[in-house]
Order: sequence, then C-alpha cells, then structure tokens
Amino acid sequence: MKNIINKLYENNFLNEKELLYLLNNISPESKKYLTLKANELRLKYYKDKVYLRGLIEFTNYCKNNCAYCGIQSNNKNADRYRLSCEEIINCCSKGYLLGYRTFVLQGGEDPFYTDEKIIDIVSSIKSKFPDCAITLSIGEKSYESYKKYYNAGADRYLLRHETASKKLYDFLHPNMSFENRVNCLKSLKNIGYQVGAGFMIGLPNQTNEDYVKDLIFLKNLNPHMIGIGPFIPHKDTIFKNEKSGTLEKTTTLLSIIRLLLPTVLLPATTALGTISPLGREQGLKAGANVVMPNLSPTSVRNKYLLYDGKICTGDEAAECRKCIENRINNAGFSLDLSRGDNINWRRK
Ligand code: 5AD
Ligand code: FES
Repeated sequence: MKNIINKLYENNFLNEKELLYLLNNISPESKKYLTLKANELRLKYYKDKVYLRGLIEFTNYCKNNCAYCGIQSNNKNADRYRLSCEEIINCCSKGYLLGYRTFVLQGGEDPFYTDEKIIDIVSSIKSKFPDCAITLSIGEKSYESYKKYYNAGADRYLLRHETASKKLYDFLHPNMSFENRVNCLKSLKNIGYQVGAGFMIGLPNQTNEDYVKDLIFLKNLNPHMIGIGPFIPHKDTIFKNEKSGTLEKTTTLLSIIRLLLPTVLLPATTALGTISPLGREQGLKAGANVVMPNLSPTSVRNKYLLYDGKICTGDEAAECRKCIENRINNAGFSLDLSRGDNINWRRK
C-alpha cells in the first residue's frame, strides 16, 4: 500500500486499477501515510495557507430537479427568495471590510436572472471592488453566456460534475445530460475562467468504482479548483431516509485529489463541516486549502437549504469571520486574505 501511495506522490497519477485498489484496501495506517504525503504537496505549493471565499447565495429558485437537492423545483416546501443587485453589493461591502477578496455568487438555475442581469451584477461588483475576484456558480449556460460573464469581469466558475458515473448521473438528474455538463466545463476552460468541478460522496448506491471514474475524470479535465463533499439527505427529497457520506471517505478522497492534482484549490466544504463538528478542520489536514464562509444576509440564510442540518453557529458575517480564523489557526494553518488565484492561471 505504501508503494502505491509513493507512486501517486511521485507521478501524480495512478491508473484505474491502482486507484480502485487504493480505495478498496486503505487501512487506518495507510490512511495516515496518505494524509502525510498529501500534506507535503500542499505545503510545497501553498505553504500552510488557507484561502477564504465569501459565499453569497443569491437565489434558491431553480428550474432543475436534481434528486438529492433541497431546492429542486418540485419542492413545494422550499421558501423561495431572490436577492437584488443592491442586496448582493451590500453583502460584498460587508465582506470586503472583513477582508474577503473573492466573492462567490451561487444560486439555483433561475431564469429570472437573465444574462443582462448577471452581467449587471458582475460589472457592478467589479467596478466597486476591482481588486476582488468574482466566482460564478449558476449552472449550465451557453458558451456565449459564459463568454459574456467573463468579459463583464467574472474570473472563476464552479460547476461540479456531481458524478462521472453516467448511469448514476442520469438517475440523479432528470432532463439533464452528462455530455452537456462536460461541454460546459470545457467551454469555461476554453474561455479562460479558473474552473471548478467536483462531486458528492456517499450518494445512494455510489461505489468505489464510481469514485475512480470521478478521479480519472478530474485528472483528465485538470480544473483549477475541485469541490467535493459528503452527500447529506434533505427531508423533501426521495433520499430523505438515506445515510450521509462519511468524513472518513471524504478526507481520503481529498488527500488522493491533492496527490493527483497538487496545485488545485480544494475547499473544506460546508457539507463536511455539517456532518461533523470539526469536519472542515479534518478536511484541511487531509489536503484542502480553501474555506468558503457564508456572506448571505441572515434573513435568507436558512432558506438556501440544499441538505438538512446546514448550520454555521456565527450568524453574522463578522462573527463567522472571526470564528473561521480561529478554527484555521487552531488546526495549524494560517489565513491568506489575498485573492488566492490558482498559481497556474492568468486572465486572458
Ligand atoms: N448534499 C450534499 N451536497 C449537495 N449539493 C446539492 N445537494 C446536496 C446534498 N443534498 C451540492 C452539489 C452542488 C453544490 C452546490 O451542492 O454538489 O453542486
Ligand atoms: Fe462560521 Fe464558525 S465558521 S461561525
């Protein structure tokens, strides 16, 4: 097992068979070694730094029906909201004063926000905060739309592939296609964005063979950012009685990803912090180097519920900002408040 981990560390590559062997046979002892090697690579490229992103969840309307997601359009119990451009800017202003230099605008696929509106939001933020990076996370759009947002000033785009197992993808995403998802990711890269893909862990019926597909997919795509986190059931979905993904599996996959793509920006996600009180800290120790605290107004915070139990004890952005800094320091890392671009990226 040690040999295979060394091989992964040295080549940043393992074939499918080797990855499956690693996932199937990892023991507590070899996991320790895997964590150690993942940490070595993170230190080499990003030192002990952890980057902060301010997350603004600006709409929980969505036209899709992803089986796992609490804001799917079929969910009549979801209390829907939309933020105006002004409200979004207010979140950014608060965040800016707290030191945030990246704003992540995330929402469901909500046709209310036409390209025109998105461009208006992006360019308003950019003109007010020219030293900040803007990340969009608003789903599948056309090449032309992505291009317009980029030209308006968007720097990064998050679009998780969710799962690279086509069968599982089709089952989870009615009226969507994996091919289109992949084409979107390719368009985003081609335009010049820093691109984030990623997947969920512990979905019903998901196997180690499926994770191998995810890992190979990511290695080939070579994105700048990768978001992975445990699946957590939501009470209004068909998965309400299913189990969550585990901390153990998530940290193993975080470490493998750090070894496969050493310079990737890799968040310790909110979902990881939700399944376990020190989940995000464990994620950082496994090789993650980004945390994304919430900047959404408190009035809508408990409405953007993709899964159950989503909490952050610091309701106010300022409170959360202090808490997160303490947590990062206590875990043995230091906060970096710069934009935190991927070291291989320049705007074109
Ligand atoms: N559990 C965990 N993660 C979820 N997401 C959506 N629903 C859930 C859930 N029930 C993730 C998806 C999406 C991201 C914004 O949140 O991977 O891309
Ligand atoms: Fe938000 Fe601790 S991370 S309150």
